[in-house]
Amino acid sequence: MRLIQHKREAYWFYRFLSVGYDRWVNPLFWTPAMRALALEEVDLERGQTVLDAGAGTGFTTEGIVARVEASNVTMLDQSPHQLARSRAKPALADCARVLGDAENHPFADDTFDRYVSAGSIEYWPDPQRGIAEAYRVLREGGRATVIGPVRPANRLLRAMAEAWMLFPSEAEYRAWMERAGFAAVELVPLAPDWYRSRKAPYAVAAVGVKPAPGASPAAGAAPAAERVRAPMTPRRRLQFAARFVAGSLAGALFVPVGAVLHARQRLQERRAA
Ligand SMILES: C[S@@+](CC[C@H](N)C(=O)[O-])C[C@H]1O[C@@H](n2cnc3c(N)ncnc32)[C@H](O)[C@@H]1O
Repeated sequence: MRLIQHKREAYWFYRFLSVGYDRWVNPLFWTPAMRALALEEVDLERGQTVLDAGAGTGFTTEGIVARVEASNVTMLDQSPHQLARSRAKPALADCARVLGDAENHPFADDTFDRYVSAGSIEYWPDPQRGIAEAYRVLREGGRATVIGPVRPANRLLRAMAEAWMLFPSEAEYRAWMERAGFAAVELVPLAPDWYRSRKAPYAVAAVGVKPAPGASPAAGAAPAAERVRAPMTPRRRLQFAARFVAGSLAGALFVPVGAVLHARQRLQERRAA
């Protein structure tokens, strides 16, 4: 179903979620420790130019600017509401902000030294296209990391996840990176401390190196699945409303699940102390 894996639905989802995003989402699901581990893999250094695709309110960008000058970092997002929240963060004051689509970047080929995208692929209608774009805008020898959730092993969680958005398998992440042309592809498992399952990782950072300049071998294979602002017909409007409401509810269910598991972890730590 993946009700919110659509550009317009994702736009409206973040219209509302942006209000409580930094308070309720990242502290539970995308923690500073996970961010540090993922960014370790892209070898960030001062002097590099970095694109953060789907940068949102700038939580991952804050990790990037701890390693690279903010003036060298570009934050791209399709949500003006998410980007507006990032403006309240002093560390990000010098970052460039671009309203745009991660599946169709407004940048020339071979522009950036590093590409980072955290927690955005799950909303892309055509993830292969997004990863081919990551490849295209990187310079030869540049490294990319695409961070996202992994399909849950638990059946109930998987049903909830797949009603909401895209939770790819590890094999899908690897195949998309390799088809896009990336070399030395590696998947680094990531999880918050409350996550216990040993059957499947919670999330991965898919890392790869661009071996040659120019566009991706996977570029232009098929027309774009969706445009960011496609015209609405009455039928599409109805479909949108149904997908948006049901998908948002499925997504919202993850907050109490995460909150309970997080609280259990804190309680166990307190008892052990
Ligand atoms: C879960 S948030 C992650 C934000 C940020 N990377 C972080 O670390 O907190 C996902 C972000 O991806 C953005 N997004 C979704 N689809 C997109 C697309 N096609 N192009 C650009 N941004 C997109 C959303 O607007 C949202 O801000």
